[in-house]
Amino acid sequence: MIRSLYLFVSLLCFSVSSVANDFDRVVPPQALRSGLTFISEDLRSLARSDDLNPAFLWIIQGEALWKKTESPEHPSCSSCHGELNQSMRGASTRYPQIDKQSGQLINLEGRINECRTRHQKLPELALESDEMLGITAYVAMASRGLPLNAHIDASNIEHFRRGRELYYTRMGQINLACTNCHEQNWGRKLQGETISQGHINAYPAYRLEWQRMGSLHRRLRACLSGVRAYMFPLGSSELLDLELFLAWRSTDPKIIVESPGVRR
Ligand code: HEC
Ligand code: HEC
Repeated sequence: MIRSLYLFVSLLCFSVSSVANDFDRVVPPQALRSGLTFISEDLRSLARSDDLNPAFLWIIQGEALWKKTESPEHPSCSSCHGELNQSMRGASTRYPQIDKQSGQLINLEGRINECRTRHQKLPELALESDEMLGITAYVAMASRGLPLNAHIDASNIEHFRRGRELYYTRMGQINLACTNCHEQNWGRKLQGETISQGHINAYPAYRLEWQRMGSLHRRLRACLSGVRAYMFPLGSSELLDLELFLAWRSTDPKIIVESPGVRR
């Protein structure tokens, strides 16, 4: 695997482009495409069918958790929010966002854990647990078909800039930046996989390689591991900043929420 990566690297004669302004795009808007358009037809048909999509094993758990009342002191999600598609339509498209109470940047998992502790008086769900993946995917599913909707303003611009900086920085023993693969070489093959533009509209997603559902942060750690770079922890401020930048670069009418997505 390392050898074929080196072979690939020798093909990369690109430099990390200097993107002058915060909101310059390397991939022109008219060329933006979901990762769904890069996977095989077999996988696409799994993703299209709620009966065949293996992610629905997690969705079922998420739905049960949404409705579950531990006791009157610990009300269910649905007792406050009501029917999922009414209360949560569009919610996932606005994350990560700054939590007004704490001033911290949080993603959808972070918001759900805020509800667990603040409103349900229950312990946080562990990141990457079946329960967390199930409830996150279930909430995100209420936004299926909607484009992502990241807003960058004075409150979150510093997070955005840090995420953007990381995106254009070469990392790891293989010394590649995110941009080298996802903006300069999308559409090319790497170890049997077609490199996509690295959008985030499918997550949490079922990945064949994992044989289970996984979060966006798990996917990002797989890319970091691929270039032998330090793998920032799940939920870390670095991955959250990166997620905000990715949400912005995935905000386009053609990149719609697919959760729960399917990937190779
Ligand atoms: C006791 C009431 C209550 C319970 C129970 C509750 N929430 Fe919330 N939830 C809120 C309130 C109030 C907000 C608005 C933000 C805040 O004040 O934290 C919110 C906000 C949210 C949001 C953000 C919506 C948006 O548009 O940004 C999500 C997602 C969410 N809750 C999911 C859940 C899930 C999942 C559960 C169960 C695990 C849950 N909530 C349990 C009261 C509750
Ligand atoms: C050596 C090339 C390479 C580098 C560098 C790389 N990735 Fe990836 N990435 C891949 C491949 C291959 C996949 C799986 C195929 C695909 O979906 O693009 C992938 C998948 C992804 C996906 C999921 C896309 C989807 O639709 O499922 C995201 C998001 C992503 N990468 C973001 C990043 C970020 C952020 C960085 C920098 C920290 C990064 N990648 C660095 C090769 C790379």
